[in-house]
Amino acid sequence: MNTIDFLVRKDSLGDTELREAPAPPLAAGQVRLAVEQFALTANNITYAAFGEAMNYWGFYPAESGWGRIPVWGFGSVVESQHPDVSVGEKFYGYYPMSSSVVLQPVRPSPAGFFDGAEHRAALHPVYNNYTRCSADPFYTPQTEDVQALLRPLFMTSWLIDDFLADNDFFGAGDGGLMLLSSASSKTAYGTAFQLAQRQGIEVVGLTSAANLEFCRSLGCYHRVVAYDQLDQIAPGATCVYIDFAGNAGLRRAIHTRFANLKYSSSIGGTHVEQLGGARDLPGPRATLFFAPAQIKKRNAEWGADILGQRLLQAWRGFIGKVCDPAAPWLVVEHHVGPDAVKAAYAAVLGGRGDPRVGHMLSLAKG
Ligand SMILES: NC(=O)c1ccc[n+]([C@@H]2O[C@H](COP(=O)([O-])OP(=O)(O)OC[C@H]3O[C@@H](n4cnc5c(N)ncnc54)[C@H](OP(=O)(O)O)[C@@H]3O)[C@@H](O)[C@H]2O)c1
Repeated sequence: MNTIDFLVRKDSLGDTELREAPAPPLAAGQVRLAVEQFALTANNITYAAFGEAMNYWGFYPAESGWGRIPVWGFGSVVESQHPDVSVGEKFYGYYPMSSSVVLQPVRPSPAGFFDGAEHRAALHPVYNNYTRCSADPFYTPQTEDVQALLRPLFMTSWLIDDFLADNDFFGAGDGGLMLLSSASSKTAYGTAFQLAQRQGIEVVGLTSAANLEFCRSLGCYHRVVAYDQLDQIAPGATCVYIDFAGNAGLRRAIHTRFANLKYSSSIGGTHVEQLGGARDLPGPRATLFFAPAQIKKRNAEWGADILGQRLLQAWRGFIGKVCDPAAPWLVVEHHVGPDAVKAAYAAVLGGRGDPRVGHMLSLAKG
């Protein structure tokens, strides 16, 4: 059996290569999964853009200069040398852009396992966890695409909303504005979906001119404004900046214009060509949002069961809206086979596609 890897140059994300090689034999305790399908969004491009700084390349090492971008998706066990993981079982988790992967299950439970590979030991456990689909309350076979595309993003969206509410919107809860950049991104609109259910705040999407109509069509933003129309928002507005774009120029413009900016939360970096530091800005310090800290806090306060139930309930409400056949927020396109994966990657990296489209990829030969 051969395995196919999709490699990108770490210092030049547009340079890619497909490599096919014999799959390595399994050692005792290891399992091989066929990576059946995975999602590719700007989130994965951000993993690559911050691959060195935040060690995203560390999950699936490749030869010098090259990296394998981690992706969220589904794999099924095709070979097992582990007593608690059987051939045929399906797992949701963090895979490489490859046709198969070798994992080393540790801490097996009815819910799944963690990959115990030595090179992953220092990486955050949330990424090392593989969830057994047969025991996963989020899983249904009909919603695999939506789970791969939206589940990791929506968990963050939910936590951002929870974090802001938990902090009384940093003093902007009484009629203030929540300004979300890259409003057309899935993580931003998931956040807007949650925020729009709160009282006393106005949810304002900021986006590129080409994506204005898409954002307006969703109905989760009270207002949507193009990046070059910030002057439509009163400079004295009390507001919070929730930044998915990471665009240094936009961040500076917002910090400069809004004298009553109460908090500035850095979530992402979709604008890969305009990323930049946040030093010497007027107003509050731009603060990196760290989702695991909010999970830890809520786990301690509510317990894992209650937190899990709230997430599941919110997820069901969200995908009900996203998948409403009368007006879907997301239309899935499948790209099967090495050449199709290469083309889809180039399109997502370019970032100018239709924001309504979600790309599902598979390196199984089409
Ligand atoms: N910190 C965390 O824990 C965490 C968790 C999840 C996601 N995130 C981050 O949230 C961001 C959104 O991720 P997503 O997967 O939800 O995105 P997505 O749905 O794929 O977003 C697509 C949108 O991003 C913008 N965009 C993408 N590529 C671009 C490019 N090359 N140039 C300019 N604009 C581009 C465009 O929006 P506009 O025209 O509206 O700008 C585009 O419509 C990512 O940076 C991701 O890493 C962070």
